[in-house]
Amino acid sequence: PCMITLHINHCPVEVPEGTTILHAARKVGIKIPTLCHVESLCPIGACRVCVVELEDARNLAAACSMPVAKGMKVHTNTRRVRHARRLVVELLLSEHNGECQTCDRNEDCELQGLAAELGIREIEYTGEKTRKRIDASTPALLRDNGKCIKCRRCVSVCAEMQDVGALWPQNRGFETVIGPAFNHDLSTVPCVQCGQCAAVCPVGAITEQPHVDRVWDAIDDPDKHVVVQTAPAIRAALGECFGYPPGTLVTGKMTAA
Ligand code: FES
Repeated sequence: PCMITLHINHCPVEVPEGTTILHAARKVGIKIPTLCHVESLCPIGACRVCVVELEDARNLAAACSMPVAKGMKVHTNTRRVRHARRLVVELLLSEHNGECQTCDRNEDCELQGLAAELGIREIEYTGEKTRKRIDASTPALLRDNGKCIKCRRCVSVCAEMQDVGALWPQNRGFETVIGPAFNHDLSTVPCVQCGQCAAVCPVGAITEQPHVDRVWDAIDDPDKHVVVQTAPAIRAALGECFGYPPGTLVTGKMTAA
């Protein structure tokens, strides 16, 4: 492919045509924060957290979706950029029904992480919060629309990666709801409960159903003999979490643990 040279924060970068500003910046170790972006899925440019300033351009550009151009001069950390990012995250936080202390994603939440990274200590905007609506209709997934920040990662992964398309944005503006059509519960649509949506959700809007209490109930029931059975993929997936090469079986270690 044709190579393009541009400057990011005065640093020259050469990348193939069609590369996004985000990937060009990563090549030279410059970090641009993102929120809606999921690696290897089509960029949707929904959140605008990744905005950067381009010399000779009036508007800020979304680095995750804007392809590089010859001679481009990009600045990723100007006052204007920092202000815009902060504004975006503050507005998200102002709507977000954050129940951080009890949220499954507390301390592992990308929105929380971004707020800290951008130095947000106060939210100037007050107003209505997104309405809480719990969907616990499936055995595997728990959805809470009140925590949803409409980044649409789940929509992309469900349609593009899994070919299922169970989740869609509906309505507009503050009324936007991400979920199955007509606001139905997840159990009424052909969701296969693969959990990809929960894996990419940056906040706690889609999480795994916690079954720990049910397990305790079973263990505490004197009339029950409790047997543990793990899903087959876990014996390999767990190994990867501990740095083993993909595909390594850790059945024995798992049982011992
Ligand atoms: Fe670029 Fe969301 S990460 S618009």
